[in-house]
Amino acid sequence: MRIFIDTANLDMIREINSWGILDGVTTNPSLIAKEGTDTRTRVREIAEIVDVPISAEAMSLEADGMIKEGRELAALHPNINVKLPMCISALKASKVLSGEGIDVNMTLIFSPQQALLAAKAGARYVSPFVGRLDDIGLYGTEILGQIVNVFSNYGFETEVIAASIRNPTHVLDAASMGCDIATIPYNVLQQMVSHPKTDEGIQNFIKDYEKSKK
Ligand code: E4P
Repeated sequence: MRIFIDTANLDMIREINSWGILDGVTTNPSLIAKEGTDTRTRVREIAEIVDVPISAEAMSLEADGMIKEGRELAALHPNINVKLPMCISALKASKVLSGEGIDVNMTLIFSPQQALLAAKAGARYVSPFVGRLDDIGLYGTEILGQIVNVFSNYGFETEVIAASIRNPTHVLDAASMGCDIATIPYNVLQQMVSHPKTDEGIQNFIKDYEKSKK
């Protein structure tokens, strides 16, 4: 499974890239706003740091506007793909943009039916939001398996990005269900590294090493 980081923070991107595990970056308007910048400036800056796919979200709600914005965002850098929020306009825009060779990441996916339509409209990626489904009392990770299954039944090339990841268990579920990618916040990536038995083991090895030197 490929690992993307879900952030617009440059230091976090640099740090995770230095771990040697980074396959991509996803941003959204809220993440960009948190950094006090704008999408175009920030995705250009990200593209200077890492050579991986970077999602940049279009803000129009009309198909024509999405197509125009999508072309502009994709023209900023060859690694940029265009995030469109799932709706009828986005399906129309996805068909046009993907026909021009521009990768679309259909975002705010909350059902396998939406994912199926996005795939048919040529989206390169779909982003089902796991945590936000959990927030309303549903089992968010359930749709990951459903979407992977639907895509595999029909040989769709659209890739599944498990999104709105809130904890390491979500990552495990995404990997177990065969998601192509998980886009993971910085704090969850850190949690994935840690294990109390690893920490304990390191401390014990250091103690024993010190003893054996005497
Ligand atoms: C996906 O690309 C989104 O940026 C993200 O995963 C949303 O996560 P949230 O529900 O934690 O805001």
